[in-house]
Amino acid sequence: MHVLGIETSCDETAAAVVSDDGVVRSSLIYSQLTDHQAYGGVVPEIAARAHVEHLDGLVRDALAQADLALSDMDAIAATAGPGLIGGVLVGLVTGKALALAAGKPLIAVNHLEGHALSARLSDGIEFPFLVLLVTGGHCQLVEALSLGQYRLLGTTIDDAVGEAFDKAARLMGFGYPGGPEIEEAALQGDPNRFPLPRPMSGRAGCDFSFSGLKTAVRRTVEQAGPMDVQAVKDLAAAFQSAVADVLADRTSNAMEIFTDRHAGPHRLVIAGGVASNRALATRLGGLAQGQGFSLTVPPMELCTDNAAMIAWAGVERLQAGLTDDLDFLARARWLLDELPPPPATVVG
Ligand code: KG4
Ligand code: ZN
Repeated sequence: MHVLGIETSCDETAAAVVSDDGVVRSSLIYSQLTDHQAYGGVVPEIAARAHVEHLDGLVRDALAQADLALSDMDAIAATAGPGLIGGVLVGLVTGKALALAAGKPLIAVNHLEGHALSARLSDGIEFPFLVLLVTGGHCQLVEALSLGQYRLLGTTIDDAVGEAFDKAARLMGFGYPGGPEIEEAALQGDPNRFPLPRPMSGRAGCDFSFSGLKTAVRRTVEQAGPMDVQAVKDLAAAFQSAVADVLADRTSNAMEIFTDRHAGPHRLVIAGGVASNRALATRLGGLAQGQGFSLTVPPMELCTDNAAMIAWAGVERLQAGLTDDLDFLARARWLLDELPPPPATVVG
């Protein structure tokens, strides 16, 4: 079984072919980074236009690289939300057109489910598992119970963690996206030179907050005056250390809840672009071990936005008989626990 995946929810245009044996036959990404760099963030209009310009060619090349034709596909899976609505529309309408032309079923994939299932593609992780979903637009702790069934344990009450990395990076004079640059700078920084807060730490529950941390970084930059290279590295290290502490504190609470609800083995997955940060993964790995959890972090190319995870979600949904109508509407907002329940005949 082969599924063509399409991803256009943010600033990556991507197409991939994935088979039901978990082999990624092709996975192509056009990164719009340079299109948006001058603006310090993603400009929705520019993103939508770039998806229109690049998606057809990427789909053609993804099929060619997989050495398969459109008629060989068993379904077309496209991200239907959440994300920047103009971009989501481009990908979903393209997916619908291909599905109609080829006479194949359409699978409208929730982008967050794509991230959550990426560890099943890379490592065959079994349900149930706990997911720390950390991207530029989301920061959530989710119980993945079965395909299509997710329980939200906590979410950010303000900024997403990737967004916090990007905003803090800007204050430190780095480019966009900020996560990789902060990680790199932090390697040579002293995390203890600048004191920064740990918002929400020690509180019950699993919600996150990052706007106070961003404000503290701004205040530190203002008070420090002109910062030399070492000071910037120290601030990057302090910021990353504060984020690690917050993620660890919140995830620890979620692991306690998960342990109360599920017999072992207990599994923690980190998914989303921020999961490619090695310092954070190392920190959470130690924490997980201490609480009896195994930790899985998919390889970097499956953590940042890609179409292989969308195609894989399509494979899983197709296997479960979950296809969608061609009038499925694109959604800018779409929480994981709002996915339609699977039909009664499908037992998760
Ligand atoms: O999942 P993703 O590729 O796109 C969204 O769905 O948002 O995540 C992008 C986010 C950006 O905010 C970027 O700064 C962050 O992931 N990111 C990182 C790292 N690599 C990417 N954050 C921290 N450390 C990294 N190494
Ligand atoms: Zn994403």
